[in-house]
Amino acid sequence: MTTFTAMANNPPDPQSVCSPITSSAIFIVATLAPGSDPADKVRAWSADVAALTRSVGKRVPSGNLSCVCGFGSSAWDTLFGNPRPASLHAFREFGAQGRRAVATPGDILLHIRADQMDLCFELATQLLSSLGDAISVVDEVQGFRYFDMRSMVGFVDGTENPAGRQAVNFTIIGDEDPSFTGGSYVLVQKYLHNMSAWNELSVEAQERIIGRTKLSDIELGDSVKPSCSHSSLTTITKDGQEVKILRDNMPFGRPGAGEFGTYFIGYARSPEPIEQMLENMFVGRPPGNYDRLLDFSTAVTGGLFFVPSADLLEELADRKP
Ligand code: HEM
Repeated sequence: MTTFTAMANNPPDPQSVCSPITSSAIFIVATLAPGSDPADKVRAWSADVAALTRSVGKRVPSGNLSCVCGFGSSAWDTLFGNPRPASLHAFREFGAQGRRAVATPGDILLHIRADQMDLCFELATQLLSSLGDAISVVDEVQGFRYFDMRSMVGFVDGTENPAGRQAVNFTIIGDEDPSFTGGSYVLVQKYLHNMSAWNELSVEAQERIIGRTKLSDIELGDSVKPSCSHSSLTTITKDGQEVKILRDNMPFGRPGAGEFGTYFIGYARSPEPIEQMLENMFVGRPPGNYDRLLDFSTAVTGGLFFVPSADLLEELADRKP
């Protein structure tokens, strides 16, 4: 059995978790076909992801193409067995009927980012064609950057993201799980918005829901910011220290079909902070004091995935459960 001991002086390279914000992205969630042949194919493919990304990316060096690949909990067991990432589990649902963070099927996540959609499109095509019928795509979303970094609901999104070394510290696993140093966890949810109801609110009412001003993106002062604002409920602390996650949400939609959405994606070095945020949003802190953004937004998918380090992703090709 291969062991994955992180060398103190030479820690494994993470995948492109902390890569720069781009103007386009494709999110693909797929399920694994049953049987040993599909599993063999996916294992072999995991060694090719980086090379395919290099091949497509090299054609437009300024395009910032990157790909992050993650695996769901039961897929990890089927594909790679033990050791398994310490905190990997199935997506935990939060909230009750009518306001619920739902879990939906998903074994493999691809988060493809670039400054041009053609790069994302080409890489998605190459990665999926190499997987062939070993997988079935169950969700595919093409996201775009909306004006000055705004979310579909019109507010600037991503402002409070950690940056630089802080982003790495909040997202990349260190010594706490030595077989998986350099890895990360990623949680995704596809939200659909009722934009006509949202747009009926005054700008001031929307600002109280988000907790920031709409035009200038300034955080509301403590005396006016409600404790149920999105910004309050997603600000969490542990042992007196704020715990952040790294988000790269993307708007998506089809105006002709009346579809207006946000693809939420959050990275962290443990699922715990993201799940705490979900509980605060859907159940409320305290219970009942929930996120009013959810009166206008419905989560239609939900998945939790482990993102191996770039080194481990290549080595996984040689593993069998
Ligand atoms: C309906 C989908 C969502 C939309 C449209 C949305 C939009 C926003 C906006 C506009 C901001 C303020 C600017 C910023 O700091 O980024 C924000 C902040 C934030 N959101 Fe969301 N968000 C959504 C879902 C989520 C979810 C599901 C989570 C976590 C599970 C989350 C976590 C956060 C965090 C941690 C912040 C920063 C809070 C702070 O430090 O002030 N968001 N979001």
